[in-house]
Amino acid sequence: MGKGYGYGKVILFNEHFVVYGIPAIASAIDKKTVAIVKKCDGEEFIIHDNREETPGYKKEKLEQQKESIVRIKKAMGIDECIEIWLSGDLRAASGVGASAASCAAIARAIADEFGMKFSDEEINEFAYEGEKAYHGNPSGIDNTCATFGGLVWYEKGKKMELLKMEKPVEIVMGDTGIVANTKKAVEGVRERREKYREKYDKIFEEANKLVYEAREALLSMELERVGELMNKNHELLQEIEVSSPELDFLVNIARKAGAYGAKMTGGGLGGYMVALTPGKELQEKVAKAIEKEGYYALRTRIGI
Ligand code: MEV
Repeated sequence: MGKGYGYGKVILFNEHFVVYGIPAIASAIDKKTVAIVKKCDGEEFIIHDNREETPGYKKEKLEQQKESIVRIKKAMGIDECIEIWLSGDLRAASGVGASAASCAAIARAIADEFGMKFSDEEINEFAYEGEKAYHGNPSGIDNTCATFGGLVWYEKGKKMELLKMEKPVEIVMGDTGIVANTKKAVEGVRERREKYREKYDKIFEEANKLVYEAREALLSMELERVGELMNKNHELLQEIEVSSPELDFLVNIARKAGAYGAKMTGGGLGGYMVALTPGKELQEKVAKAIEKEGYYALRTRIGI
């Protein structure tokens, strides 16, 4: 029996822009997906997905999940049938890196079951192969966070850089409950960017400038500035039309409750938003405000 894990993640700056080579910052969160893999008799694989979920998520993603397992097995050179069990404390939902966490966990569990030794870099590549089933042409930021953990500075096609914050900081992630299609969100940006090239170039330029400031602010623990930049980043994401009324609603609830900043996170069009809430007290206040509106709130930390 083989076992593996992958971290959930939160993108703090520049989802979508990262697909075009602009740097992004993301952090693993202290929630994981765990995979158990066992050789079995039969065709390609059997999957038991025991993860908690946002209602409808697993059904909606089932075909992509199956394709992703086929891709991971192929990349790892595994022909035998495998039985897979997924569990862990990362709730399966859009915007929290659930697909990438499961891909990294499955790749690690397969390696463990077949007694294969792979570096984290290699596991990351297998997870990236699996992610293609969910995203089409992923930037690689999600599988990188899922595999390595930590606070990550990511530029597509380059080696990721781990950033070190002085200490972890509390965040709240609010789930709209909407299962979103990342592939569709990414394609939408591509189409609109082609159509409104000049407008989009300006927005992309701002995103590029902003992320360098955000890096400095995070490293020097200027958390109020980090919050302001998250708000600004949310505006840019609204401009490229990947936010949604539900995301905007939760972002406003979090800001009103005192969050230093808040934005959508991940693919958008549903899924999660994130609020920066240093200290347990503020975190609780913001989480409660989100829950009072009937939404699920995840209390976690960045920079762990
Ligand atoms: C999805 O979590 C992040 C996106 O930027 C897509 C990607 O980077 O592949 C929207």
